[in-house]
Amino acid sequence: MAGRIPENILEDILGRIDIVEIISGYIPLKKAGANFKANCPFHHEKTASFMVSPERQIYHCFGCGESGNAFKFLMRHERMEFPEAVEMLAKKTGVILPDQDKPELARAASLSNQLYKINELAVNYYENNLYAASAAAAIKYLLDRGVKPETIKDFHLGLATASWEGLINYLRSKNISLALMEQAGLVLPKDSGGYYDRFRNRIIFPIFDMRSRMLGFGARVMDNSLPKYINSPETPIYTKGKNLFGLNLSKDFIRDADCAVIVEGYLDFMIPYQEGVKNIVASQGTALTLEQIKLLKRYTYNVVMVYDGDTAGEIATLRSLDILIDEGINVRVFPLPKGMDPDTLVRSKGINALKDKIENAVSFFDYKLNVLKSRHNIKDAQGKAKIASEMLLTINKFDNAILRGEYTKKLSEEMDVPEQHILEELHKLKPAVLAPVAQSINLGVKLPEINPAEKQLIKFMLEEVELIDKVMQQLSPSDFSDARTAKIVSVMHELVLQGKNIEPSVLMNYLNEDEASQLVCETMFMPPLTDQGREKAVNDCILRIKVQRLKSRREHLHIQIKSAQSLGDEDKLNSLIQEFHNLIKKGD
Ligand code: UTP
Ligand code: MN
Repeated sequence: MAGRIPENILEDILGRIDIVEIISGYIPLKKAGANFKANCPFHHEKTASFMVSPERQIYHCFGCGESGNAFKFLMRHERMEFPEAVEMLAKKTGVILPDQDKPELARAASLSNQLYKINELAVNYYENNLYAASAAAAIKYLLDRGVKPETIKDFHLGLATASWEGLINYLRSKNISLALMEQAGLVLPKDSGGYYDRFRNRIIFPIFDMRSRMLGFGARVMDNSLPKYINSPETPIYTKGKNLFGLNLSKDFIRDADCAVIVEGYLDFMIPYQEGVKNIVASQGTALTLEQIKLLKRYTYNVVMVYDGDTAGEIATLRSLDILIDEGINVRVFPLPKGMDPDTLVRSKGINALKDKIENAVSFFDYKLNVLKSRHNIKDAQGKAKIASEMLLTINKFDNAILRGEYTKKLSEEMDVPEQHILEELHKLKPAVLAPVAQSINLGVKLPEINPAEKQLIKFMLEEVELIDKVMQQLSPSDFSDARTAKIVSVMHELVLQGKNIEPSVLMNYLNEDEASQLVCETMFMPPLTDQGREKAVNDCILRIKVQRLKSRREHLHIQIKSAQSLGDEDKLNSLIQEFHNLIKKGD
């Protein structure tokens, strides 16, 4: 894990940060005794099993097993590479990294960073095009659409000209290889050989991530031709459904307002943002994905969806509702009239019209019921059954029984059906709906069982460094039954012999195996023993490990003996039996 960054530097950084402060920048942490807890950001859960220890400077999730120190958190949560996470925390703490005088070299090591860089160059190119004299029509198009000159600048809008090789030539002049241009999704191979620019004759909308890194592009025609938008393809740094357009600009406003307005399109974001509705993000044209919702949850649990008033918008809204509610988000909807989107609303009626809609957005319940009423006849039995079953799918997503009760009551009133019948249908639903959700989103891996004495002993050794030497006089790493515990013990011992610090958050830097560091975290969050003295407990663990070791060696010998018997290998058999007797003498 450590790569080329020296461990003492990593330790220095870890010593200067507070993991609680870092993690609480991304998810809300609640105090829980000596630790902090939260709903795990790495898997789907409704009760908090994600723990952060300020004392140990580590985190661990009892639900999915994900754990580690501050570097690991950033790697997982922000999808950073290890050197990036180190660099970020080094900057934060003022620790100088050894190769900071040649950062370009260090950065070039990562493909992602090269792609960000190429995209930045491409933005320069597209932006320059837009300000050329020949681009008057493009500027006029944007101004006609109500995009102000400052907004054009702030969002780094640009222009892809009609040229087939404009960008290629520009990037070539910056010594970028065609292979990298292709990986960035900026060029396409020609059948006849060679490459051509992917985006031509279009307004360019650069797409940024939360940290304002340039991920890719959306590109719109300036007339009514199709396709209206072309977007960057999936690349190593860009996946459409994993990003929310504009969040880099709006996240602080969303946090302050404790509410996010979600719209579909680039201009549905830009126009309201420009006019003063700043707590806004765009999903880029599809139903919200779980990843997008997880990004939002760092800033707020309140959402207002303002989607286009067309069938696609309706379907996307309904789909998003279920995922939002499932993620515990409080969601309201403002359905726009057919043919209207937030951009056209603001331009035709002014920003206050949008603010008003946001204020008066209706509950998921009223929205969904209205949509269903327009699709089915609420007066006849078939229609009622259909509407009820669709409504219940969403109501069932609520974790809270009181809320579920309120909604079933309301549904029975609205549909004029006895509540008992609604409840019966709801009960039918429960297990079927919960099962796939719980399974599909479990990202972490639970560890296979390890002898509890080994885990306990590691915990003791981590808590009391003096123990390490004492334990190692009685046990060797190979006495531990599991490759991970054996690795942890041998690394700890080695570090102690070298006089190094073995705090869990630091120890992790030496354990390349992910699962071994996961185990270190897990042991640190095990409850302390209360019913016996510490020394006795330590001796007990050592004894249990020895017994376990003996037992498994005996079992192993037993198998070998059997196999030697069946092969008729007399010599081997005799020596194995001798060994077996020695072992029994020693053990009992
Ligand atoms: P819309 O069709 O609603 O377009 O698609 P729009 O945003 O209102 O665009 P204007 O106002 O006509 O310029 C909403 C979003 O869906 C994605 C884009 O992100 C767009 O902003 N989209 C749409 C595509 O990716 N490709 C398309 O062909 C159309
Ligand atoms: Mn539009």
